[in-house]
Amino acid sequence: MAETVDVLIVGAGAAGLMCAIEAGRRGRRVLVVDHARAPGEKIRISGGGRCNFTNTGTTVANFLGENPRFAASALKRYSQHDFIKRVDQAGIAWHEKTLGQLFCDDSAKQIIRMLVDDLRAAGATLKLNTGVDAVQRSGDGFEARLSDGSVVRAASLVVATGGKSIPKMGATGWAYEIARQFGLRVTETRPALVPLTFETGLLEQLLPLAGVAVDAVVSAERKDAPPFAEAMLFTHRGLSGPAILQISSYWREGEAIRADMAPGVKVFEALKAAKEANGKQALATALGHIIPRRLADSILQREGLQTPGREGKLAELGNAKLQALGAAVNGWTVKPVGSEGYRTAEVTLGGVDTAALDQRTMAANAVPGLFFVGEAVDITGWLGGYNFQWAWSSGWVAGQSC
Ligand code: FDA
Repeated sequence: MAETVDVLIVGAGAAGLMCAIEAGRRGRRVLVVDHARAPGEKIRISGGGRCNFTNTGTTVANFLGENPRFAASALKRYSQHDFIKRVDQAGIAWHEKTLGQLFCDDSAKQIIRMLVDDLRAAGATLKLNTGVDAVQRSGDGFEARLSDGSVVRAASLVVATGGKSIPKMGATGWAYEIARQFGLRVTETRPALVPLTFETGLLEQLLPLAGVAVDAVVSAERKDAPPFAEAMLFTHRGLSGPAILQISSYWREGEAIRADMAPGVKVFEALKAAKEANGKQALATALGHIIPRRLADSILQREGLQTPGREGKLAELGNAKLQALGAAVNGWTVKPVGSEGYRTAEVTLGGVDTAALDQRTMAANAVPGLFFVGEAVDITGWLGGYNFQWAWSSGWVAGQSC
């Protein structure tokens, strides 16, 4: 015997839980299935365990995709302020860390508990450790065969299975398979918000810098890529840190990125002034006043201005050399060879084509009753709470109409 519900939601992550709560509150019979052992696993590990659950400044400008403006409707109907109100009502204490990023004071688990409590109160059912083996059209709705052998019929099917990042946590490309099965286009997908890697030669040169962090303004070649002013971290594989994760969403293989590692300081002019004041000063000391000393040493070695056992002095450098040094710090240009991939990427760029969806409801235009929400859709946020806000907003609007 098949079980019949109004709404079958596949995926109990941020977007699926939000959708289930809203549909349940409308009196819809809702079943949420997830193949994981617990709901909201990515919420649990997010923000270093404190969940950067939204960003106070969220606008469509913080999103990528073939048509980021698609997100405007959902973000307006259920905004960051709505989610903050909800968090406040649940008595969860939070703080702004930086750049409008809001984190729980205590634990990301509080957000999961709030959502699961709301889901239960709304009368929705959550079935864990359960995947979906097959889905097909059945009358005006859908029929799904679950991994436990049971069959579920539903008028609405909401696909909330997220993207491909962190496969170890159960991420799959299921949403894309279902989209294709029902004739919806899927845009190119790739890891985003991900550390970038270097080829072996460059890596060997830069390995002594592993662990060094520097405030930087990082930019990419693409014209629509904004510069990101955040921390950059040298790693054993290449570069990481918020500025690099941000730019990774805009970077493509074969392209360079550019980092100003002393934002706000014109290094050439600062060194020239230091030379005029005291030419006997060691170059590394002078540069070490502007950037971390290990980074200063590495740049001086790369520029041939410092060899082991011999420290250069400011007075030895003419303007041309000082200018080259300034450019190496204020405009370091480097070509990453790749990224760390889905293993560590925070999100998947690309996904279900927004042209196939209704921006007010997240429903597929050509398949009545089929909805896609959250990261599965070709809407990807910057680092900083934007991806959860998209999950809340898209899940909420789908919950009003599924
Ligand atoms: P999500 O991935 O959350 O949920 C999908 C659910 O579907 C999962 O529960 C999964 O088990 C299930 N599923 C998948 N395939 C299935 C299948 N075939 N059958 C059944 N179930 C299936 N964002 C942010 O705004 N602030 C932050 O602090 C962070 N931090 C962060 C840290 C790390 C380490 C990562 C990896 C990601 C972040 N993010 C983030 C991004 C954020 O976690 C992400 O954008 C949202 O979780 C997306 O929500 P969804 O509900 O769309 O998918």
